[in-house]
Amino acid sequence: MKKIGVFCPATVANISCGFDVLGLCLENSGDVMYFSEKKDPGVHISRVQGPPLPTDPEQNVAGVAALAMLRHLGTSHGVTIEIEKRIKPGSGIGSSAASAAGAVFGLNELLGRPLSRQELIGFAMQGESLASGAAHADNVAPALLGGITLIRSYDPLEVISLHVPPELWVTVIHPQLELKTADARAVLKDQVPLTKAIRQWGNLGALVSALYTENYELLGRSLTDHIAEPLRSPLIPGFTEVKMAALEAGALGSGISGSGPSIFALCKGKPVAELVAGKMKTIYDALGVPSELHISRIATTGTRLIP
Ligand code: HSE
Repeated sequence: MKKIGVFCPATVANISCGFDVLGLCLENSGDVMYFSEKKDPGVHISRVQGPPLPTDPEQNVAGVAALAMLRHLGTSHGVTIEIEKRIKPGSGIGSSAASAAGAVFGLNELLGRPLSRQELIGFAMQGESLASGAAHADNVAPALLGGITLIRSYDPLEVISLHVPPELWVTVIHPQLELKTADARAVLKDQVPLTKAIRQWGNLGALVSALYTENYELLGRSLTDHIAEPLRSPLIPGFTEVKMAALEAGALGSGISGSGPSIFALCKGKPVAELVAGKMKTIYDALGVPSELHISRIATTGTRLIP
């Protein structure tokens, strides 16, 4: 029987100035999932390796996304899914998004590719909704499309792939603590004062311009978050010290990766990215907090088939 293997990449959402609208894809950090056709309709999750996650498809991010897609296609096909979860839940690098994006990508491949990657995003969002209570697309879009993506609109959904400057690298440090997206969203306010909104959209526009003009200095200046970071950073031990260490080591900018607790830094070139990683880790070592590092180019492809 045909069995398909899929790499499901980790992602950094928000990128400081783009809360719920910006995200980028890492190259080699991610989960692996396997898909095979089963005789009867529906979704069966036969194996989850790693953290204890539900195998009931209605309670599992991958299951919910796959079921939504099967319902949409109105097909009587069924799928068996195996999940090797390498991205820890609550890490801030798109753990649930990797499962949701992987599920719809793998199912689409199994069924002979009836949908485009763009069309898969909406179904992956339904998985995200189960995980965090919010159907945000800023992790699933870069996980499916690769690169750096912008959600221009949620209703109707419109996702744009942005230009990626060739020397752009990302360093992510994941202090081994769990912060649930739902909890990190609960500290946010419904209203944003106009003065803060003005600063935020100024930075977001400048960041997009900086990507296209490959202006790394402007990119660095744009990586400021006036909305979520001030409210969320108290939830992340050592955040300010780690961010300062990254900037002092030459990062273009640094902030919370998604809803945290991971912290990302954008860098020009691999040597800077590695130096920044070392300095960030020194802070957590001194605090006695175990941490994991990811140093990556921005991936040009998202979810992909593996042998
Ligand atoms: N935009 C989402 C948030 C990303 O910040 O809540 C979660 O990874």
